[in-house]
Amino acid sequence: MTATIVSPRLMRIGGGSVGQIAEVLGLFGLSRPLVVTDPWMLSSGTVDRCLDPMRAAGLDPAVFAETVPDPTDTVVEAGVAAFRAGDYDCLIGFGGGSPMDTAKAIAILAAAAPGQRMREFKVPAQADRGAVPVICIPTTAGTGSEATRFTVITDTGTDEKMLVAGLGALPLAAIVDYELTYSVPQRTTADTGIDSLTHALEAYVSKRANPHADSLALSAMRLIGRHLRIAYHQPKNAAAREAMMLGAMQAGLAFSNSSVALVHGMSRPIGAHFHVPHGLSNAMLLPAVTEFGLNDALPRYAEAARAMGVATLEDADQVAGSKLLEELRALNQELGVPTPKGHGIAAAQWERLLPLMAKQALASGSPANNPRVPDEAQIIALYRKVYG
Ligand SMILES: NC(=O)c1ccc[n+]([C@@H]2O[C@H](COP(=O)([O-])OP(=O)(O)OC[C@H]3O[C@@H](n4cnc5c(N)ncnc54)[C@H](O)[C@@H]3O)[C@@H](O)[C@H]2O)c1
Ligand SMILES: [Fe+2]
Repeated sequence: MTATIVSPRLMRIGGGSVGQIAEVLGLFGLSRPLVVTDPWMLSSGTVDRCLDPMRAAGLDPAVFAETVPDPTDTVVEAGVAAFRAGDYDCLIGFGGGSPMDTAKAIAILAAAAPGQRMREFKVPAQADRGAVPVICIPTTAGTGSEATRFTVITDTGTDEKMLVAGLGALPLAAIVDYELTYSVPQRTTADTGIDSLTHALEAYVSKRANPHADSLALSAMRLIGRHLRIAYHQPKNAAAREAMMLGAMQAGLAFSNSSVALVHGMSRPIGAHFHVPHGLSNAMLLPAVTEFGLNDALPRYAEAARAMGVATLEDADQVAGSKLLEELRALNQELGVPTPKGHGIAAAQWERLLPLMAKQALASGSPANNPRVPDEAQIIALYRKVYG
């Protein structure tokens, strides 16, 4: 079997690295950026952390701050209009996964033929072309989007969260500065941290796993397994924030070069229909979906438990697998993850949408990478199991 490995050409990692944004642009001969961010980043002044160093270097960056959580095709179209209105030579995605994914999608749609819509690029299509390079600066730890060949965009016509994949979504460069995450609220720290953990675990047990992605996934699970709780309880803990940021990036590299699987396949429809934050819908599903596939990739799940530090080398695989399930449940408990019911989703609406959600989950292709591949009925059963 062969594996294709992709990653950004440059990753600048470390506390304070956002201050070096102008230098990074200069390395690639770029000087006319459009910064894509969200309204909070603008109103709180957080985006100045990347604008100020560019201005100090004599650049004149423009800002598009209309990104929404779970970015939509209509916001991407507005972003393309803003992009075309100026003479920009690159896009900078500054924020959580939503602004980074929006910047990537703007680059892809701006390179498309006139009249093409975002939905034409959803998997299995390949989105390999971008109009200009994208530089990503994550402020959550995180989606890992700064290092992946994916962008996730909601089709407002169908309420579908579409996975878009290809080299057009792969950033040219990433600046990964954990100091940007000190201000992340506790709930978002939990949600984004479980998202990272899910990326690493799914990449590791995926049918598309390979040795290179494995090493990144295991390293990410070591970092996240030991630091997520600390970052959640102590938001200013530098060591925990740094470890989480690195783990999130490595998890992104891992699943970008392997894949995500059933948790993500089932999570996207929950996000699209009920506007549950991405990491939180992953967390709602993670224990039950892991249990569903456990015995079909037991040695891998056991190794994941050992990497996370919840099982030892002496534990047999079955014991380590059980400890992994216990840990995922305990983590949800400690991090205050509700069930869909506890989150306020009405039972009747959940039940009514299950057939559509199961179809959308399967259509994304992600469930096919799971160690145990479910059919539609099994996905519906899993959705029912996690509801209450
Ligand atoms: N492209 C990929 O590879 C990939 C991978 C996983 C998830 N995603 C997508 O990413 C999106 C989720 O991204 P996210 O979880 O980072 O959330 P987000 O970008 O939607 O941000 C969530 C909230 O946190 C706030 N926030 C972000 N950084 C902050 C900071 N430093 N301080 C204070 N507040 C801050 C934002 O303003 C926002 O209100 C989803 O659409 C998901 O599908 C993409
Ligand atoms: Fe994710």
